[in-house]
Amino acid sequence: MSQTWWRGTAIYQVYLRSFADGNGDGFGDLAGLRGRLPYLKELGIGAIWLNPWYPSPMADGGYDVADYRDIEPVFGTLAEAEKFIAEAHELDIKVIIDVVPNHSSTESAWFKQALSDRSVRERFWFRDEPNDWKSIFGGSAWTQVADGQWYLHLFAPEQPDFNWENPEVHREFEDVLRFWFDRGVDGFRVDSAALLFKSEDSYEDLDAVHDVYRRWREIADSYGERILIGEVWLPDQERFARYLRPDELHTAFNFDFLSCPWDPAELRRVIDLTLATHTPIGAPPTWVLSNHDVTRPVTRYGRADTTFAHGGALHGTPSDLELGYRRARAAALLAMALPGCVYVYQGEELGLPEVENLPDAVRQDPMYARSGGANPGRDGCRVPLPWSGEEPPFGFGPAMSTATPWLPQPEAWRKLTAEAQAADLGSMLNLYRSALALRRDLLGDGTLTWLPLGGPDVLAFTRESGLTCVVNLGSEPVRLPPGEVLLASGPLEDGSLPPDTAAWLS
Ligand code: GLC
Repeated sequence: MSQTWWRGTAIYQVYLRSFADGNGDGFGDLAGLRGRLPYLKELGIGAIWLNPWYPSPMADGGYDVADYRDIEPVFGTLAEAEKFIAEAHELDIKVIIDVVPNHSSTESAWFKQALSDRSVRERFWFRDEPNDWKSIFGGSAWTQVADGQWYLHLFAPEQPDFNWENPEVHREFEDVLRFWFDRGVDGFRVDSAALLFKSEDSYEDLDAVHDVYRRWREIADSYGERILIGEVWLPDQERFARYLRPDELHTAFNFDFLSCPWDPAELRRVIDLTLATHTPIGAPPTWVLSNHDVTRPVTRYGRADTTFAHGGALHGTPSDLELGYRRARAAALLAMALPGCVYVYQGEELGLPEVENLPDAVRQDPMYARSGGANPGRDGCRVPLPWSGEEPPFGFGPAMSTATPWLPQPEAWRKLTAEAQAADLGSMLNLYRSALALRRDLLGDGTLTWLPLGGPDVLAFTRESGLTCVVNLGSEPVRLPPGEVLLASGPLEDGSLPPDTAAWLS
């Protein structure tokens, strides 16, 4: 069982703009989130991770940070953020925030200064000539300024990259960490954690980055049990594991698991690889099915090709949403039974599908515009949550508010509101609630033992507490082992586990 809170907890990801709107302007905010804390408590999570809440022109949903020491006015105030942290702590919920060290905003004080004063340009990457690097969002990674120089931006032009060769940048971020630790946050999710350093021919995973995280770890440890979570997309497990050495980041997102197709051999391979990577260094694995950057599982698992595709390659391909929903339920029981931390991205617990038919005019993700519309972008997994009622805005805003949410919600979501699902014992919401409650008592950190059961299409394993998880990815029902069924993702057939279904047994 967990020795420290972060080793086995369930972390709920809040995309603030789309979670709950407290003041009726169509954007989610801190007031809305504070009002929904009882919902999160009842759901049974141990921590909240919030996407960036800092002042931002929102060129990339807040990942273009104009001021690392304040709160975006659309979301609230610094005083309110402190209230929120205190209220979450009263409910025994930890608070993790996003820190974005790779790049800033063109609206930040430092960048504005750099534009007018060449002597402070060393905080960023200004050059007389650009190289051939492409932006991750499409187009060139360089933009020219009025006096002829170019600056580097691995993402949107509004997101100039910091120069981590400059000690001032180190000092700045160390101070930012302290600023928020002093205000009670329990940890940071480190955005684009492998990209900080650049050489002539690479901007990924340069060794110097590890010294930064060693320093950050010292700072985190000096505050007690505070954690650092890396967003590290690296295919090489050995390179990935370097970020999780005992004096660096505590954990990192498991993108192999998130990207894995609905395939028993592939899932088992990824689970084994994950455990083999994490166990020797003593870092807890994490299990992630979705986040604000990827297609929602219900839609993805309902497609003929269930791999996660970058760049919206599978966007709009037919999806059997009933099948996807069944698989997403089974996947949730799988993820929550595995040893380590589990993440739940807002709306996952409601079984929301990807919204693939947003009108082009409302799309806001810079990926869409920068690819000339070729890539639909990530707005489809960021649509404001449906809370209650029969029609949009589905209780997203305060009572009686008719403000239009910043992205339109599908009419069909009336069946998926939190209110409708709370009243339905068989709903996705109640499956998540039951699973998270059992998980708290019986699962978390530790190891698993695979069970030889049901053939190659079945994943079956048992945990230290004796809980057994069985997932049927085949096309025939599977006989369950002896034991009491504690929870199942769908109805059993004469005591057998149907296809695309998972069960937990004692
Ligand atoms: C991370 C974030 C993503 C953002 C990018 C640039 O990948 O998850 O949403 O666009 O970094 O900050």
